Amino acid sequence: MNHCRVRAPTMADAKFYSLYRDMYVPKYFYTPKGLGYWEEFTFRTDDVIVATYPKSGTNWGLELVPLVLSGGDPSVVDTVPTWERTGGMGHEKAIGMNLDTWASPRVFATHYRYDAMPKSFHQVKPKVIYIMRNPKDVLISGFLYFNNVEYHASTGTLTEFLHKFLRGEVPFSSWFDHVKSWLNAEDKSHILYLTFEEMLQDLQQTVRTLAQFLDRPLEDEVVGQIADRCLFKNMKKNRCKQPASVDHSAFLRKGIAGDWKNHLSEEDSQLFDSVYKDKMKDVDFTFIWD
Ligand code: A3P
Repeated sequence: MNHCRVRAPTMADAKFYSLYRDMYVPKYFYTPKGLGYWEEFTFRTDDVIVATYPKSGTNWGLELVPLVLSGGDPSVVDTVPTWERTGGMGHEKAIGMNLDTWASPRVFATHYRYDAMPKSFHQVKPKVIYIMRNPKDVLISGFLYFNNVEYHASTGTLTEFLHKFLRGEVPFSSWFDHVKSWLNAEDKSHILYLTFEEMLQDLQQTVRTLAQFLDRPLEDEVVGQIADRCLFKNMKKNRCKQPASVDHSAFLRKGIAGDWKNHLSEEDSQLFDSVYKDKMKDVDFTFIWD
């Protein structure tokens, strides 16, 4: 394993998180039973997995991917809340969802690092869409989100949270280790790497890229329709029509790139940059935000 070892959660955080394969996982969803179930889970070659570090665009991916797979048919995404149509890896709730009876292609979501993925994943190698986002925006999105839900520890001040984030003492631990684990995957042939920022810049192109990767050729008109449905404002409008669930608009806050500039002090930003520079020095990938 090439990631740093993670310290056990402090007393205050241990109420909310446990340490699983060197990742902080929210106890509320990731129970020993749920984690054990997914360890033994059997993947299919035609499963599709949306993998992210939290707050990097998971819900966006979980809207885009099913629409591409259905050739633009919105009936499922319009009527079924995200977490009921996608199995959340590690979640105990998935046990009652009879995932083995679901028709192919099944769509799953995961926040796991690559090296923490279940055994069957590494054998079967289903397709993965790994979405990355400027970690400063990930930090801000997480800071503003975690305080609003009862299953996350209080973040403290932004500066306190920043220090925790840089040490990896936050849900799913270090952003740096997460991104590096997926970028350095042993077999990259079944992984598509996307960034939140490129998706924002040109969503139609993202839909085309997804369609090609998922072997679902789409007419230009359908590409346009999917991209339009997945614009922030439209997704937010549609989500609010869904039955109540954890899905609701808390996941769709602002949906922009660079919001960190409105929140991080110059001092905190500089600290972030220096840690980033050091941790990412050996990464052979050009990020749009660099
Ligand atoms: P912000 O808090 O910066 O607004 P996740 O789904 O991984 O929890 O990520 C949530 C982030 O993705 C939130 O960021 C949310 O607004 C953003 N997001 C979700 N859907 C989006 C969309 N269609 N367009 C742009 N951003 C989106």
